[in-house]
Amino acid sequence: MPKLPAILSRLDAELDASLARLASWIAIPSISTDPAYAADSRRAAQWLRDDLESLGFKASLRETPGQPIVVGHRPKPGAPHVLFYGHYDVQPVDPLTLWESEPFKPVVKEIAPGRKVITGRGACDDKGQVMTFIEALRATLKETGDLPVGITILVEGEEESGSPNLPPFVAANAEELKADVALICDTGMWDRETPAITASLRGLVYQEVTITCADRDLHSGLFGGAAANPIHVLSSIVAALRDETGRITIPGFYDGVEEPTAEQKADWQALGLTEAEFLGGIGLKRSIGEKGRMLIEQIQSRPTCDVNGIWGGYIGEGTKTVIAAKASAKISFRLVGKQDPQKIAAAFQAFVRARLPADVTAEFIAHGASPAIAVPVDSLALLKAQAALTEEWGRKAVTIGSGGSIPVAGDFKRTLGMDTLLVGFGLDDDRLHSPNEKYDLSSFHKGQRSWARILQALGA
Ligand code: BES
Ligand code: ZN
Repeated sequence: MPKLPAILSRLDAELDASLARLASWIAIPSISTDPAYAADSRRAAQWLRDDLESLGFKASLRETPGQPIVVGHRPKPGAPHVLFYGHYDVQPVDPLTLWESEPFKPVVKEIAPGRKVITGRGACDDKGQVMTFIEALRATLKETGDLPVGITILVEGEEESGSPNLPPFVAANAEELKADVALICDTGMWDRETPAITASLRGLVYQEVTITCADRDLHSGLFGGAAANPIHVLSSIVAALRDETGRITIPGFYDGVEEPTAEQKADWQALGLTEAEFLGGIGLKRSIGEKGRMLIEQIQSRPTCDVNGIWGGYIGEGTKTVIAAKASAKISFRLVGKQDPQKIAAAFQAFVRARLPADVTAEFIAHGASPAIAVPVDSLALLKAQAALTEEWGRKAVTIGSGGSIPVAGDFKRTLGMDTLLVGFGLDDDRLHSPNEKYDLSSFHKGQRSWARILQALGA
């Protein structure tokens, strides 16, 4: 790889220019879940398409019933071909008052001596991460006039809303998207100095439930004591989902969950992740996870249930003595191993129905169901990436499990028959989905350098 040093030097020299490009992309508020931002989402897609075209990619926006998908091609006959996936959409920014600077006006600042970050919604997830890859392509092209591998880029705009239109798009365009391996830059490092390849992701089942009691809102003085209250019904069902040991009580929920091997347990023990260390940064001390499970197990390899939102009744100023007709909750389950998303969704609905008092009904909306993902840890692509990362960071790149979900990796396997290499540079304190999201400049810069190395290795 004789050209690598020149490519890396160029990335060093052009860091400020690359930061300016990232900042201009972050400035476009591409919040996928809110229709008010649809035009901005399209602008964010166009921004990327234009940038890819400037790199010699044949790129376009592909329409879907939701936000457009950006697809770019730069084939290289005879060379290996990779499919790079990322997302240009971002999470909503509320509560806005907690942001120290505006979410769509990124700033570079020093948060500790020698530690600079860029702030803004999407600074890490996933605009900053996507740009590590694009900047590596740019520097490689400028320095060598070519890329070591053929590349297809697939960047969607609805990942944060569960990618409703992506699986059909992948299936309908399978021939166009097939490659030797998929690359995703949407995961994290082990810590600030230690690069990581993610070998497993949890799956996700997301359900919305609405409980209905009377056929109208009621005066609680007139009807209280006799009429069923949907908020009480819903909260007692929610409370019953976990027992006092932290286990989820839905029958069959743990079917397909595998126990760790003794070797796995020893590896975890050696990592020595403590509750104080992991939770201290978010103002907590104690894990509420399953008793008898290591913290790392709780956040990576055990399934979970979380209520993500709950509402009903009167929540305005002052008081209103009302018994609401309806109450709702959004509830998600992170899945591991071979847990079957459809079975979990059905078992959850049965669990709710079994607890409904007379006259009370439940309706459900399914917001997505994807299984957990495990990638082989001995593939050639993974070993090459591991060596390249180790070289760049001067520390052995570790393979880790992650508790987050990136459902498309499952589609790449099922629909395109392709494994995914998950390499990302996010950190636990990046505040993903929270106010004051940031991306360390070390992640951004060394991430670019890492991809430059990985691309050369994959092409060799
Ligand atoms: N980038 C995250 C997933 C992630 C975060 C993986 C940290 C590994 C480490 C992604 O954008 C995300 O938030 N995904 C959603 C998926 C869901 C909406 C289907 C998630 O995990 O909640
Ligand atoms: Zn993401």
